[in-house]
Order: sequence, then C-alpha cells, then structure tokens
Amino acid sequence: MLTQILPLRHVSEFAADVRAGLTKSGQRELPSKYLYDEVGSALFEAICVLPEYGLTRADARLLQKHSGEIVGRLKSPVHVAELGSGSGKKTRWILESLSQRQKTYYYPIEISPSALAASEKELGQIDLVTIVGYEQPYLEGLRAVAEERADADHLLVLFLGSTIGNFDRDAGEEFLRNVRAILRPGDALLLGTDLEKSVADQLLAYDDPAGVTAAFNLNLLSRINRELRADFDLSCFRHEARWNAEERRIEMHLRSTRRQRVEIPAAGLRVILAEGETIWTESSHKYRAGEAGEMAARTGFRCDGEWIDQEWPFAQNLLMVE
Ligand SMILES: C[S@@+](CC[C@H](N)C(=O)[O-])C[C@H]1O[C@@H](n2cnc3c(N)ncnc32)[C@H](O)[C@@H]1O
Repeated sequence: MLTQILPLRHVSEFAADVRAGLTKSGQRELPSKYLYDEVGSALFEAICVLPEYGLTRADARLLQKHSGEIVGRLKSPVHVAELGSGSGKKTRWILESLSQRQKTYYYPIEISPSALAASEKELGQIDLVTIVGYEQPYLEGLRAVAEERADADHLLVLFLGSTIGNFDRDAGEEFLRNVRAILRPGDALLLGTDLEKSVADQLLAYDDPAGVTAAFNLNLLSRINRELRADFDLSCFRHEARWNAEERRIEMHLRSTRRQRVEIPAAGLRVILAEGETIWTESSHKYRAGEAGEMAARTGFRCDGEWIDQEWPFAQNLLMVE
C-alpha cells in the first residue's frame, strides 16, 4: 500500500490540545481522536467484538446484505474513500461488490498508523482493488483524494461505525457540509448512524463488564504519560459512561477518585484535579430513523436510501450529491 503521511507536527499539536482541554473552565475535556494510538486502536477492535457492543455487527450485517444494491445505485467509475477507516473489516463487502464491475481505488483516511496498516492487511488481497492510504485527518485526506482524481471519476465516501456521533450535533452537520463542499455531483456518502435504544443497552455498550471500554478510555492517560512524559496514576481514575438524555448521547468520562496533582512536562502543564472531578473524553450521539435524511437535506445531500438493522437498531444511509 502506498501511504501519504502528514508532516510531523503531531507532538506539539497533541500537547497544545491536551493543555487547552485540561485548562478549560468548568468541565475538563480531552479530544476523542487521541484515544486511537496503537494500543487504543487494538482495544477498539476488541470492543467491536464484545457481546454488549452490537453496533459494529449491525453495521457489518447491513453492508453484507445491501452492498450490492448500494453500489448498484452509484455512477461508474467510482472509487472509495473512507473517513476513519479503522481496520477496514466491514469495507470488504463494498469493495467486493464494486470489484465485480470495475477496477477500484480504495483510499483509507486515518490518523492511526496501526489502523491504516491493519486495513491494508485486511483488504490488500481483493482482486482489482488498489489501496492508497492517507495518514491524515478526515477533511485534509479527503481533499487530497478529491484533488488527485481524474475528471471522469466519482467518489463514494464511507463514514461508518456511527463515527459521526463523536461530533456534537451542530459540529456534525458542519462536518457534513465540509464533506459536501469537497465532493461534486455524482459522488455519494454512505453514513452509518447508531439509533437510540434502551438506556440500559446503550450504557452496557460503553461500559462492558470485562472492562475493555474502561481500558480503552484509561489508555488515553497512558498515552499522555508515554508521549508527553506525564505522571497520571491510572489507579486513581475510574471509567464512567453516562446517558445524557437531553443531548441523546453517551458520554465517556474519567473520574478522579481522589484529589491529585498531575504533571505534564511536554505540555508545560501542572493540573490539580479535585476528588470526584471528571475529564470528558468522548461523546457518542444517537439518532432516530430518518434523522440522517434530515441532516442530509440541511447539508446539501439527498438521502437515496436508508437500511436499518432489526437486531441492533442502526441505520446505513446513502446520501447523494446532485
Ligand atoms: C469509532 S472508530 C471507527 C472505525 C471504523 N470506521 C469502524 O466503523 O469500525 C473511529 C476511527 O476514526 C479514526 N479517527 C478519529 N479521528 C480522526 C480524524 N480526525 N481524522 C482521521 N481519522 C480519525 C480513529 O483512529 C478510528 O480508527
């Protein structure tokens, strides 16, 4: 696989984001994108097979069942760009359907190098599919892919796994508008949205009894220790998943179990955390059937189809650019 890599600005950006998030007045925060270093990406793969986390299996079932139909609605020739591709396992169904009718380029766009490498291993052997990975943030990667394509080529952008839910609702729509601005008529976006279900099921999905999601969340502090030379004592933090009914989202937090001081030398920062205080690390917004279509209409797309999994309410939405 060819990989386009971002110039090295990572450590100083990470330090600046950690400083900004931990010195925020009121609720302290850390951006969820930093959950995905090599350890975090491996733990996320483990989360995807947990019995309590039905989301990934629902997403995969819909792709397995409907990829043929989805691909049949697209103009030829079409190439595939995937935002936050992770291991790329579910993408196989789309690429196999497409490879029956044309040679296809697949462009995974990822900030996690280990996830990018995993997707090459997973998808590198599909006939007539060439992989060109972009180790870049979503929009920068997509812009580069769009700029380099031939005039006749169309793009199918995949944004699977309900990763859109990590954005606040307004920011999610702004993100869709930005994606739309990069695309042109004849392109499409396949958007996965996890649908609301019982609060108990949603909480279990983000707080499994085996503690895999807790390890995924706590690893963010380990990462700051490793990369920014900090001294977070992980035994003094507890993973917490909360349902915010007003915002219709699960929030992951790390709760400080005692008053403690943390030094983060590479961010030039010393933080005093109160006992019981939390650091907010991720949001996962949940949606209603039809909601992605409404978001599409507000952001310059037309929803061409919505497929819903019955076992674990989850929607696959095909949004067209016209
Ligand atoms: C929730 S996981 C979903 C992975 C996969 N799409 C799936 O459905 O299982 C989000 C993925 O997006 C990547 N990611 C997070 N923020 C990103 C950003 N700003 N730009 C590019 N990739 C990002 C992470 O490394 C991670 O692999």
